[in-house]
Order: sequence, then C-alpha cells, then structure tokens
Amino acid sequence: MKFLTKKTEEFTADTVVCFVWEDYKTDSKLLNYLNKLSNNELNKQIENYKIFKGEFMETFKYAINEQTKVLLAGLGKKENLTRKKFSQIIANAARIAKSITKNNSIAFELIENTSECNNILANFNKEDSAKITLCAARIGLYEFDKYLSSKKNKIETIELLNDNFSQELERAAEIGAYTSFAMKFTKDLVNEQAQVATPEYIANIAAQIAKEHKLEAKIYDKNQIKELNMNAFLAVSQGSIHEPKFVHLTYKPKCTPRKKIALIGKGITFDAGGMNIKPATSMLTMKDDMTGAASVLGIIQAMAKLNSDIELHAVCALCENMTSGSAYKQGDILTAMNGKTIEVDNTDAEGRLTLADALSYCDKLNVDEVIDIATLTGAVIVSLGNNITGVMGNNQEQINKFIEASKKSAENTWQMPILDELKDNLKSNIADMKNTGGRQAGTSTAAWFLSNFTKSNAWLHLDIAGTAYLDKSNKETLQGPTGVMIRTLINYMLS
Ligand code: BES
Ligand code: MN
Ligand code: ZN
Repeated sequence: MKFLTKKTEEFTADTVVCFVWEDYKTDSKLLNYLNKLSNNELNKQIENYKIFKGEFMETFKYAINEQTKVLLAGLGKKENLTRKKFSQIIANAARIAKSITKNNSIAFELIENTSECNNILANFNKEDSAKITLCAARIGLYEFDKYLSSKKNKIETIELLNDNFSQELERAAEIGAYTSFAMKFTKDLVNEQAQVATPEYIANIAAQIAKEHKLEAKIYDKNQIKELNMNAFLAVSQGSIHEPKFVHLTYKPKCTPRKKIALIGKGITFDAGGMNIKPATSMLTMKDDMTGAASVLGIIQAMAKLNSDIELHAVCALCENMTSGSAYKQGDILTAMNGKTIEVDNTDAEGRLTLADALSYCDKLNVDEVIDIATLTGAVIVSLGNNITGVMGNNQEQINKFIEASKKSAENTWQMPILDELKDNLKSNIADMKNTGGRQAGTSTAAWFLSNFTKSNAWLHLDIAGTAYLDKSNKETLQGPTGVMIRTLINYMLS
C-alpha cells in the first residue's frame, strides 16, 4: 500500500472521505471544494438535515460524478470527540470507502481538533491526526484473505489531504505509514495458522527481516538455548515436535543512540496448556499466543525504516506448549537462566517461564529499558476486558510516560499494581517460587513473578491477553488480531 500526501484539490483517488461536525457548521476547504464540484448539491444534501446530521460514526455516500465519490463521515459534537473516537470514525469510513472505490485508492482529509480544554484524549493537532488517520485507515482496510479461494480487492493508495505539509507533518505521516505497516505485518503473522507459524517459521522470518533492514541477528537453536541455561524456556518447549528458537535482532542507529531499549515479545506459537490442557473453547484462539513476538518483529522494522535514534533489541523465545509423553509436568523444578528455581504448579502458566529466561537474557544487553509485551493472563480479561491493556512495571516514571503515549496514540491502558504481598501467592517449600498461585490477582501475580527475572530498574510489562485478539468486532477493529500497543510503543520510543 502506498501513502501520498497531497494538496486538498489535487487528490486522484476516486473516493474522498470528508469530515462533518454535528451541530456546528463545517467550514473545510475540502467540503467547499467538493460542494463546488457538485454544483452546490452536496451542501443541499447536508442542509437537508434529515439525511445526514454529522453524528458520531454516521456516514453518507454521495457520487458527484463518474470519477468522484464522496463519503461524508460524521464527527459528532466537538466537545465529545476523542482520539479514540476519531480513530473509530476513520476505520469505519475506510471500510465503507473500500466497498465503493473503483480505482482502489481513497483520500482522507486531514483534520485537527484544537478545542479549548487541555485534555490530550480530546485534543489533537495535525501531526497527531496524520498518525491516527493513517493507522486507523489501515485498520479499517485490513483483511486476511490468504486462505480464501476468492481474493478481496486491495486498496493500493491512501492519500492524505492538506494544503500545507510542513517537514514536521510529512514526518508524522511517515511515522503513521510505517506504524500501520508494522500493525499489518503483526496481524498477518498472528492470523497465520499454528501448523505453519512454527518457531522455525517465525525465526526464518526474523532472519529475513534482519537481512532486509541490515539488523544484527542472533538466532539460537535448541542446543544453544541449552548452553545459555534457559531451562525454564526449554521445559515449556519439550512437549512439542517443533524445536524452540530464540531470536535476538538488534537495530543500531547511525548516530550514538539516544537510548537503548530491549523489547521482548511472548512467542508461544500455540498454547494448548501443556499437561494442564485447556478446554476446547479456551484453546480455540491460542495461535495468537505469539502476538507479542509478532509485534516486536513488526516494530523493529518500522523503527529501522524511520531511522530512529534508539538502539532497539527485539527478543523472542519461540516455542509451542503441548501435551505429549515428553511434555514438562506439574511438580517439575526448573532452574532459570538467572539461577532462580521454579516449581511448576501449572503447565498452562508457560508464558512467564519463557519470559523469565528472555528477561534474564536481556540483563546482559546493557540497555536502559526493558519492555515485554505478552498475552499472559486470562485474569486481565476479567479485570479490564477486551479494550484495555494492563500496564505494570518497576519504574513509575516510565509507566506514566508510557500511559501518556497510549493516550496520544488512541489506545487504552490501565496500570495494575505489583506489590511485595503477592510473593505469598507463589510461595513454594522446595523451590524459590511456584509459577502460579490461586485465582486471586492473577495479572499482578504473573507480573510479580516476572519481576524476579530482570535486573533492570526500568522494566515495563504489558499484558495484552484481552486486547491482542477480538472474538467479536469492536467499533475500530473487526474480529481477529488487533495489533494492539504497536502504535503506542512506536510513539513512546520516538518521543
Ligand atoms: N496464553 C494464556 C493467556 C491467555 C488467556 C491469552 C486468554 C489470551 C486469552 C496463558 O498462557 C495462560 O494460559 N494463562 C493462564 C494462567 C493460569 C494457569 C494461572 C490463565 O490465564 O488461565
Ligand atoms: Mn497458557
Ligand atoms: Zn500462553
């Protein structure tokens, strides 16, 4: 997909999305221009209030002539518009525009919302808007048709319309474009079936990425993982016929890096639960348990393309969690890479075991921050549902900055606590800790467990179990993978 920035009157797409406020006269250059093209018919339609009011998520299709179709998209009342709602409006408009375009290109007007109040959830300038618009448009246009016998039509070009593209605004559009690419990459990999997307398959993709973007690549096989003493990770992998792979890609900027960050993604290519096997309904979507890994592989490509001044490490421990004669068992005692011992209380709490070794590995990288992203606990779905990502960590300043970035990126996050009291949940008499406790505070307990395996004093943990994959469509994203936190992570690292 191509992204172009153009002056308002210079679009070549045959379908143009134009925004209209409710209860507020919309005076946009695009609307005026389209109205002129339509010999004032468009205004008549809008002024004839019954057809289109500009309400939130309302749309109205109008063909000006053979070449040009307009999709009016309602923004609702100015005081009610938020970045999230704006993103939902665009994703929805993109889906409708896709169904009417003939030349497979869609133009979006660039708007801003600078209302009086000082609320970052509501206010956005043109730079913010360019990022939100390009990401949301691509969310709306996303479809996975690899296994459909009749393919969907593909949108080739998105045009962003504005009369004055400053250098800063062009850069924002570039960030939006590569961020949306990272999201699409991640969603495609998550959608891939687990019998194809094995640890080896994903490791091969990582190697290709490294080649294409000139990244350093270390890809460890089973024997090398053994040599690294990653015994917790190895234990999880041992019930599968697919051997584990440990991937470590490094992007280094040409200049001295402003900061060094390690991004760890949970990479369970299928989570059957192990010997503590999941019931069928819970297992149904467990090919998505490598969303974290897919996300960090998407993000490192975007950061390289954007010539970020951050040194970025993408790290994933890839394996499958299966039941079999060779599978690890309850009661097994594992020694993680950092020497701490773990009594296996439940083989379905496998993610934290693989992350324990990935976190210990990152202790050796000499980075300023470590961030992990993981479909870790069902408990986060109970606490926060499918639209809010749980954020935890050991550095409140980092957490605050991250949550701020999520608000700017039209993504929802909420901090959950990590307290020392949680230690009692995981108390073991014969090992340093167990891998699970009771049913209480599952998300925080998992995070407390992870905190034992990092020496970083700026470690952030994202539990995306509720937000990575939707069983039912929401206003922004259709059923399936969401690419959650990619927008936030990229904006966080670039700011
Ligand atoms: N991959 C799951 C978590 C998950 C649940 C992701 C639902 C997406 C949707 C994780 O490995 C898991 O099985 N967690 C267990 C932990 C429990 C045994 C303490 C869970 O949440 O049930
Ligand atoms: Mn599990
Ligand atoms: Zn899992």
